[in-house]
Amino acid sequence: MHREDFPMIKNNIVYFDSGATTFKPQVVIDSITDYYQNYCANAHRGDYHISQIASSKFEETREIIKNFINSKNTSEIVFTSGNTESINLVVFGYFRHQLKSGDEVLITKSEHASNVLPWFVLEKEIGIKVKYIKLDENKELTIDNLEESITPNTKVISIAHITNVVGDIRDIKSICALAHKHNILVLVDGAQAIAHTKVDVQMLDADFYTFSSHKIYGPTGVGILYGKYELLNKMFPINYGGGMNTLFEHDGYYELKSLPHRLEAGTPNIAGVIGLGSAIEYVNNIGIDNIIKYEEELKKYLLEKLKELDFITIYNANSKGPVVAFNIKGVFSQDTSVYLDKYNICIRAGNHCTKMLKDEINIKNTCRISLALYNNKEEIDLLINVLKNSENIWKEIL
Ligand code: ALA
Repeated sequence: MHREDFPMIKNNIVYFDSGATTFKPQVVIDSITDYYQNYCANAHRGDYHISQIASSKFEETREIIKNFINSKNTSEIVFTSGNTESINLVVFGYFRHQLKSGDEVLITKSEHASNVLPWFVLEKEIGIKVKYIKLDENKELTIDNLEESITPNTKVISIAHITNVVGDIRDIKSICALAHKHNILVLVDGAQAIAHTKVDVQMLDADFYTFSSHKIYGPTGVGILYGKYELLNKMFPINYGGGMNTLFEHDGYYELKSLPHRLEAGTPNIAGVIGLGSAIEYVNNIGIDNIIKYEEELKKYLLEKLKELDFITIYNANSKGPVVAFNIKGVFSQDTSVYLDKYNICIRAGNHCTKMLKDEINIKNTCRISLALYNNKEEIDLLINVLKNSENIWKEIL
């Protein structure tokens, strides 16, 4: 689908690692170049013409994102350096000041490091307890298991919308409804979901929703934090500096700007934010519903073909997200990845920053195929053929 829009596809690469980062369409590359070539200036800091263009293009992206995820207003959209910083901002800017010793945070063992380690730090710092929601036989999160994990001390549920290895799509709307009945706040890590499912933060009723630009065809180095206004308004910045204050005096007195600028200290990634705006417009032009439908077909095809190979173990055959985790029986995942690379096929191998998942699936390292809108069935056929010929994998990778 729309393969001609992506210059990297012309390099004859079969790219199955969009869960790590996506290729960028030419329109995104052009919008970044346009900024550097035609109106390269700081945003929100100059009274001259090109700075005003930069400021207004920068703020246009905020509006585009507000509409894309259906937040109530642009002050609920904060730019960060990536999904990791967005989650860290929520944990250290908000929950560090709201939680106390003994409060419980529910996560799962299939969360990415960025949604685990900040909570571990808070556990050490203030004595909160990180608890794990039991996963079902498919390694997926169910509402029943979530409900069983809730205690009077549960204050936060912090989970991915779609997990990066199992690829299960969580029912965030029901999770938020259940959480709110118990006065629990929900932080949703949307990194793997934003390009593959419809996100409407008001419909989901998520308290915080985070994602990064580079997983939705935008540049690296830009993340988004969405938060309900009343929560963001209580959030402390984790960075202080220019662009976020209105006043400071020699005696240490200072005043900060209103949202969202209060949480965006320093010169932001202006080109990156503008590039993200183009990426979202690109997705809007194709239609997220069309992308979802197309990727579902591809995933179905990929699973059907992989299941025909009896020397392959699939770890997430029932999940609905755009990823398949597998291994060639008896072959270390990284060896498979090196072998596929000989045929210009890129997959990710290892633990995928999801180091606790081994407790659930009993294996440390897997191969992961992650799909995006530019993949097609011919690429899957090629992959299957190369896998079929893998009996001599040792000879080929040595
Ligand atoms: N979090 C990214 C992945 O799952 C890097 O590959």
